[in-house]
Formats: sequence, C-alpha cells, structure tokens
Amino acid sequence: TKQKLWGGRFTGKTDPLMHAFNQSLSYDKRMHDADIRGSIAYAKSLCLSGLLTKEEEQKMIDGLQRVGQEWKDGVFVIKEDDEDIHTANERRLSELIGPLGGKLHTGRSRNDQVATDMRLWLLDQVGELEHALKSVIGVIVERADKEKDILMPGYTHLQRAQPIRWSHLILFHAFSLHADLQRLQQLIPRISVLPLGSGPLAGNPFLVDRDFLAKELGFQSVAENSMWGVADRDFIAEFLMWSSLCMVHLSKLAEDLIIYSTSEFGFITLSDAYSTGSSVMPQKKNPDSLELLRGKTGRVFGDMSGFLMTLKGLPSTYNKDLQEDKEPLFDAVDTIGASLRIAEGVFSTLKVNAEKMKSALTMDMLATELAEYLVRKGMPFRETHHVSGRAVALAESLQVPISELTLEQYKKLCPLFEEDVVGVFDFEASVERRAAIGGPSLQMIERQVSVLRKELNQ
Ligand code: ARG
Repeated sequence: TKQKLWGGRFTGKTDPLMHAFNQSLSYDKRMHDADIRGSIAYAKSLCLSGLLTKEEEQKMIDGLQRVGQEWKDGVFVIKEDDEDIHTANERRLSELIGPLGGKLHTGRSRNDQVATDMRLWLLDQVGELEHALKSVIGVIVERADKEKDILMPGYTHLQRAQPIRWSHLILFHAFSLHADLQRLQQLIPRISVLPLGSGPLAGNPFLVDRDFLAKELGFQSVAENSMWGVADRDFIAEFLMWSSLCMVHLSKLAEDLIIYSTSEFGFITLSDAYSTGSSVMPQKKNPDSLELLRGKTGRVFGDMSGFLMTLKGLPSTYNKDLQEDKEPLFDAVDTIGASLRIAEGVFSTLKVNAEKMKSALTMDMLATELAEYLVRKGMPFRETHHVSGRAVALAESLQVPISELTLEQYKKLCPLFEEDVVGVFDFEASVERRAAIGGPSLQMIERQVSVLRKELNQ
C-alpha cells in the first residue's frame, strides 16, 4: 500500500486539494542535484558514525547517483504521493535499493535537509551570476576603452550640465555593477553555512561529524545552533535584497539608454536583435529589451518584499511558511540572470552616434568653465559664479552663445577677462582639464578602465 513518508500516525487520506496546496515538488525539483549531493555526503557521515557498513554506504551512494542520473536524463517518474524533492528522491532510492534506503534519513530531518539544499543550490547560482555580472561589466569596459574619445552632454535633472565623455557615462554604470559584484561575493560566507546535522531542530543524536559534512559539501562553516540551522532564511532575504539593488542599477542603465535612443536625442541606436516593432506603426523600433529590464525590477522587489512578509512574526524554527522561500528566490535568480545577459547583449550591439552627441553640446555648458577661468585669475569662486551668470544672461538677451560675446563685453562684466578667454570655449579642453582622479579626462578614463579590468581578472 502506498503511503506518505510521514504517514505512520495517519489513518485518514490527504484531501487532493490539500496535497496540491502542500506540495513543492513542482518547483523544488530544480534542486534535485543539491538534494542528491547532500544525501550522498550524509550517507558517508552515517557510515563514519557506524550506522552504515562500508558496503551499505556504497550501495546507497550508487542508488543516489542513479536517482540523480534519472533527473538529469529527464526520466525520473514523479508519483502521486511525492510531496517535495526530498520525499521523491528518498522514495525512488528505496525502490532502487530496497529497505536500506530507509536508513538514509537516520538523524536527519527534511528541515536540516531543505535548508542545506537551498544553500547549496544558491551557491551554484551565485557563481553563475558572478560570471554574468563580470561579462556585462567587461563589455562596458571594453566599449569605454574603444570609444573613449566621444564627447557628449552630461546631464543633471535631465538638463544639459557639463560636457563629459560617453565612456565616462558608461563606466559610471560599470562601477555600480562592480559594487554589486562585490556585494554578491560578500554574501557567500553567510550562504555557505552548513545546516545538515541540525536534525528537525534539536540537533543530531548520532554524533554525525558535521565538520566532515561541511568539508564534503564545500561549506565554509557549520551552523553553531541547530535551531538557527533549520530556521535561518536570512541568506535568502539578503540575496533578494541584493537582487533588488542590482535590478535598480540595470533599470537606471536601461532608462539612460531608452532616453538616448529616442529620435529627440538620437545618441545611440539599439540593434535590431534587442528591439521590436509595432503591429500598427511600421516606422517604429521599440526598446522592449530595456523596458523589460526596467519593468522586471518591480517584479524582483515583489519577490523581496513578499518574502520579508513571510518571515516576519514566524515562531522559532521550522514552520511550513518557510516553503514559500523557494518561488521568490527562484524567480529572482531567473529574472536577474536573464536581465544581466540581456543587458550584456544590448550593450555589446548598440551603435553610438558620436556626431549627434557632439552636436548636442552647447556653449552654455561651459559657463562653469568661464567661472573657473576667473578663479584661475585669482577671483573667489562665489564671485566668479555671478560674473559668469551675468555673461549667460547677456548672451541670452542678445540671442548669441556665450562664445560670441566680444572681449569688450566681457571686460565690462569683469576686468580680469583677457584675450585668452577664447580658450574657455572648447569642449575637449574642458573635459581634459577635469583630470583629477575620477574625472572624464582621457587619462582618467584609462585609469577607470584599468581599475575595472584588474578587478575583473581577480
Ligand atoms: N518542502 C519543505 C520545504 O520546502 C521541506 C521541509 C518540510 N519539513 C517539514 N517539517 N514539513 O520547506
């Protein structure tokens, strides 16, 4: 007779609706590999504790490997009573190796098992995300290096502010993503804590060697408190917070590129590969890739805030609410993984329209430069700001750019102006003067490129 793994004390059958409501196999099956790895390590530790003979250990490991292979080959047959990846794998193991399979769960609980699986699974994903992040950053850095000459307007409040280099702008995004890379790496020690050997909550009665388990599974440390071991999901909350912040950066990057790709700006052209058309308006080329990067950010925030709601107010240790950790985590991992790859694709294929960028530079963006010219002649900056402001107002009233005012007009505004004031009206020179660390001068662009290159090679 078929029975649930926990069916011993039950006489009544589970309502089918309840089974469907309770099951997590439909989504936690994607952790099959982590579950098998955890079980193989646990079988080894049972043998070390004298609960399995060497021969039994081998038989169990072979069986677990076969179960794992069935998942990999896509031939694992899910049975009606399978509830989650843990019960499904154990049920299948016992079909393959007989009653010996029933020894695997000795001293173990699905509580320490699932917490272990989640951590193992997430560590793998973090590795992939690290790689994806490095790829996007790498594409931006190489672009910046190749296109470092291109000048464009820099904006604050979306109003033309000061001339910058295109490379400076995209490196800004690269540095945001680089901080995300560092933050992601800093999560690892807190994910890499072994729960296995915590039992249902009160620890393991068979003195399993948890240091051995940690080493076997590649964990950096061991949960020191069994109740914390089974209950802690902060590593998931933290990962969701990380995902949210990283999506904020992708969303902002997307927004810049969306604006710059409009006909009104025309600074960049997205490749066809990352654009779509309109079913009505034949002329349209829409930046759907970027809009989805921006839009999916809200979805990841939802994963984070929803899961924090799940955690709040839970009594200590395991409660079934914790099963609700999986879907938001999986969704965030999938969404951010895809988003990083799309961002990389967009960035590696877009076209920069350098002429358009250059022609959007206007002389008024050098008003700060004009003030700085007077600073160099010894005037306090606060006063120079007023003089320069009056030059802007005069030019505006005469309907000419500030570079067209005559030297006489300038001298009337301030006697410190001399012939060499013409040197102010040069965008390239303005950018090159900003040569302190962090500036957009060519040398400082090269410095940024080499700093990031070095970081990526670590
Ligand atoms: N599927 C469950 C989860 O994801 C596994 C743990 C079940 N533990 C329990 N005591 N019912 O949380």
